[in-house]
Formats: sequence, C-alpha cells, structure tokens
Amino acid sequence: MSIGIDKLGFYTPKNYIDIVELAEARDVEPGKFTIGIGQDKQAVPNPYEDVVTMAAEAANQILTEDNKKDIELVIVGTESSIDESKSSSTFLMDLLDLPNEVRAFEIKQACYGATAGLQMAKDFIATHPGKKALVIASDIAKYGIKTAGEVTQGAGAIAMLVSENPQIVELEDKSVYLTKNVGDFWRPTFSKTAFARGKYSNEIYMDFFKTLFDNYNQKFDQDVENIDTLLFHIPYTKMGRKALNTIESDVSEEKFNDLVERYQKSIEISRSVGNLYTGSLYLGLLSYLINGDVKDNESLMMFSYGSGAVGEIYSAKVVSGFEKAIDIEGIKNMLDSRKKISISEYETIFNTEYKNYDVVNIDTVEGEFYLSEITENERLYSRISK
Ligand code: CAA
Repeated sequence: MSIGIDKLGFYTPKNYIDIVELAEARDVEPGKFTIGIGQDKQAVPNPYEDVVTMAAEAANQILTEDNKKDIELVIVGTESSIDESKSSSTFLMDLLDLPNEVRAFEIKQACYGATAGLQMAKDFIATHPGKKALVIASDIAKYGIKTAGEVTQGAGAIAMLVSENPQIVELEDKSVYLTKNVGDFWRPTFSKTAFARGKYSNEIYMDFFKTLFDNYNQKFDQDVENIDTLLFHIPYTKMGRKALNTIESDVSEEKFNDLVERYQKSIEISRSVGNLYTGSLYLGLLSYLINGDVKDNESLMMFSYGSGAVGEIYSAKVVSGFEKAIDIEGIKNMLDSRKKISISEYETIFNTEYKNYDVVNIDTVEGEFYLSEITENERLYSRISK
C-alpha cells in the first residue's frame, strides 16, 4: 500500500519586512543578511494571528466536505504553542468543522515536530486503511528585536493531508534517526522568544546531517550518485547550503552542481518568508515542487532537524501529476499580494500582545481565521465567512 502526502496547503502572514531595510536599521552590511544568511524578506504575523489561526488558514486550503469525513487523526507540530495544556488541534475542530471522532493532539520537538507527526500519520494510515490524517506544522519564529537571531525569524504554517495512494509524495519505509541531549536552542515557558547558541546550533545541525547521511547510505546501501534531490530543514537558506557543501567531495562535480541547482529551487519561498521552524522542511518541499525541474517518480531525501536535538533522514518519491494537487496559483498570489511594512511598524507589532479581556476589532483582521478575544485568560477564535 502506498501512503504519503495527498494534499499540501501553505499559509504565511500578509505583512513582511525587507531584509535590506532590517540590515540598515541594525547597522549591518546588507550582504551579511542577503548573502551570508540568505534571506530577502521576513513574514510578520499580526497580533491576532498565532499557531492556531495559521494552522486553520493552511488546512482550510486543502479540506473538502468529502476528504474531511475520512480524517481520524489531527496532529499539530509546533514549538510556539499558545497553551501549555490544551492542544492547538482541539481549536481546529470548530474552526474547520472537523469530525469529532478523531485523535487530535499537539507534538513538540522543536523543528522536528511535523516530521514526528508525519511518520506517526503514515503508521496510522497503515493500520487504518481508507482513513486520512491531517498533519499541520505551524510556528512563529521569534528571537527578539536586535538579537543575532532576528534576521532568522519568520512565520507560517504547512498543512498536509496524509492518505493511501497519495497525489503528491509517497513516503517510503527507509529512514534513519538520531537523538542527543544538546543545548543549542531552547525556549523556557516564561519566554515568548527563543534562546540560541547560534554558532553551536549550526555545528550541531551540520553534525546531525553528516551522521544521518552516512548512516542512511550505509544502512540502505545507497550510492550517493543516485540521489535525485536532497531537501533540508531551512532555518535560514544559507544553513541547508552549508550542510549540502559537506558532501561535495562524496559526489562528482556534475552531480553536486545538480543537487545545488535543485536546492536553490527548494529555498525560493523560504528566502521571502523566513523560518517556519517545524514547517521549514515542508516549505522547502513545496517550493521545490512548484519551482523545480521535477522528474517523473523522482526520489527525495528529506533531512529534518529539531534543536535539542532530534534529526531524521527519510526518503520519499514524487508522484507524477503532483502539480494538479497543489494550488500553485493560489500560493503565488498569496505571496505576491503581501504588504511590505516598515521596520518601525514591525517593531510595534512585535511588541503588541493581546491581554485578558481584550477584544479584537474585526475591521483590522485581514485573514479568514483570527483570535477574537481573550476572556478569563482563555483564547477564543473566530472565522470570517468568505
Ligand atoms: N557579505 C556576505 N556575507 C557576509 C557578510 C557580507 N557583508 N558579512 C558577514 N557575512 C557572512 C559570514 O561570513 C557568515 O558566513 P558563514 O556562516 O558562511 O561563515 C554569515 O554571513 C553569518 O555571519 P555570522 O556568523 O557572523 O552571523 P551571526 O553571528 O550574526 O549569527 C546566526 C548568525 C548564528 C545564524 C544567528 O542568526 C542565529 O543565532 N540564528 C538563530 C539560530 C539558528 O538559526 N540556528 C540554525 C541551526 S538550529 C536549527 O536549525 C533549528 C532552528 O530552526 C532554529
């Protein structure tokens, strides 16, 4: 039985900042941010947006009355959750009018969460033939104004419908994983922003990639010349490129140049959105499918990394005709119709937070799903019917 991603939805907030303007405001040579880090734009969520509203926006793009009735598993992977007890998935029941006879919960392991959810969904479908699973990666990457990590912020959500006979990508049974207790990145419960040992986190990322890459090739007796495409977790676009460079000496020049060309296609959207944390690998997949020169039945090696740290490399296969199952025009329109805001507007939004008994003015809401009020410290959400 083939199992995999049948549909892919993507949401990113409507506002963004220009990375050159951010560099100028921080008195940094722009080339450091655009070339050294590899970013052009950064998504800025509105204060009424969070992981629940973004998850709802992304999932709403791929749900129909027909596929909803077969969903029995709903997993949200996030590391910027809004509640320490209640999962984001439960809010989606009402917002998306999902069936109640489902297992719904949230998964956390930094940027690895969505991969854990996807692998769990694959196993679930294998034991529940005919059923579907909704796996959503939703995050707001926040390091803080004037921090070293500020240029690597971002926000958005990826929704994946997992089923038998998928239309987009088949998940194979080949995977290797690794977990180590590492202090490269963390966010204590009292803090809205993450803490990172930046350079150390880069080293750990590279170390995990190289170890997993070697383990995978050895375990599955893979000739690296036969790899079609390598996709990476992309905290910022230079990071995946640095990891890719570590295998340059393992392959022919022609193969390496081809892998680089495919990698460039996988980072096009990330360059203009920023870090989606756990959704980043899957945004890379989406970007590659939309922009890349994808071969029939092309094989993918997916590198997932979540600080702290858990990593996994698994393989997947692109299904021919995948483009019919992705709303390519809708995604391009969403990206093109975003609004650039100034650095001072971004700073104001960054520091705005709704408090208990605040009610959001609906006239300020641009999306379909939004945080409508906070009452007795409970966050309540609404949908604007379109
Ligand atoms: N033109 C071109 N390049 C320039 C330049 C210029 N004018 N000036 C500097 N650069 C280059 C530097 O040479 C450097 O390149 P290399 O990495 O190839 O050496 C690059 O720009 C960055 O410069 P610095 O290392 O000096 O940058 P920094 O100290 O300000 O920090 C960072 C960069 C560590 C990534 C920081 O932004 C950070 O801490 N980010 C958050 C942590 C993070 O994203 N870690 C990634 C791995 S962990 C993970 O993946 C999980 C996750 O999602 C967070």
